Amino acid sequence: MDVYKQIISRRSIRKFKQEEIKPDLLDKFVNAARLAPSASNRQPLEYLVVTKKELREQIFANVAWAGYIEPEGNPKAGEEPVAYILVLLNKKITPNADRDIGASCQNITLAALEEGIGCCWIGSFNRGAINKIFDFPENYSLELILALGYPAENPRYLDVDKDSSIKYYKDSSGTLHVPKRKLEQIIHYNIFK
Ligand SMILES: Cc1cc2nc3c(=O)[nH]c(=O)nc-3n(C[C@H](O)[C@H](O)[C@H](O)COP(=O)(O)O)c2cc1C
Repeated sequence: MDVYKQIISRRSIRKFKQEEIKPDLLDKFVNAARLAPSASNRQPLEYLVVTKKELREQIFANVAWAGYIEPEGNPKAGEEPVAYILVLLNKKITPNADRDIGASCQNITLAALEEGIGCCWIGSFNRGAINKIFDFPENYSLELILALGYPAENPRYLDVDKDSSIKYYKDSSGTLHVPKRKLEQIIHYNIFK
């Protein structure tokens, strides 16, 4: 599939098959992150790949899923992510790298998608509890968690008006629908009005 089609088809995945991801693929995803754009090429990010079941369970207990439809949107037993990539910022290099984080995580997401692997970015997590599990050095801050696995759901997007609700929802069959603002309402040419 070409890159544009991948981008259009990507949706956050929160239900996963219990099939492990091969370590060389996880290496590949982090390599994609490593080569992302970085402000002043400072490269302040490092990545902790978590595949061990006990550690995955501990992370799972400390992350929040799909806030608008909680708890309906949570992965059920047997649908949990099979790997996590924790994105860590070395604050000695820079105190803030939100744009670097976005670029590197999108690289991971798209590299995973190409391999048929789904991903959910998780910014809502119990920082204290996760720091306690891994005991990160003081100058590293956990910025984002990517949950990964082969998808066991097929969410869709739908175009909505700018003023409509952006809250995603599940229909009666359990399919997740994700509203996205219409192109013609968010694109501006030459003049912004
Ligand atoms: C910075 C960031 C943090 C996010 N944090 C969470 C989260 O904590 N839990 C969750 O289930 N989804 C999280 N998401 C996923 C968003 O809910 C999702 O991207 C949004 O609903 C749009 O759906 P889509 O990714 O399928 O286009 C996060 C996304 C971003 C960009």
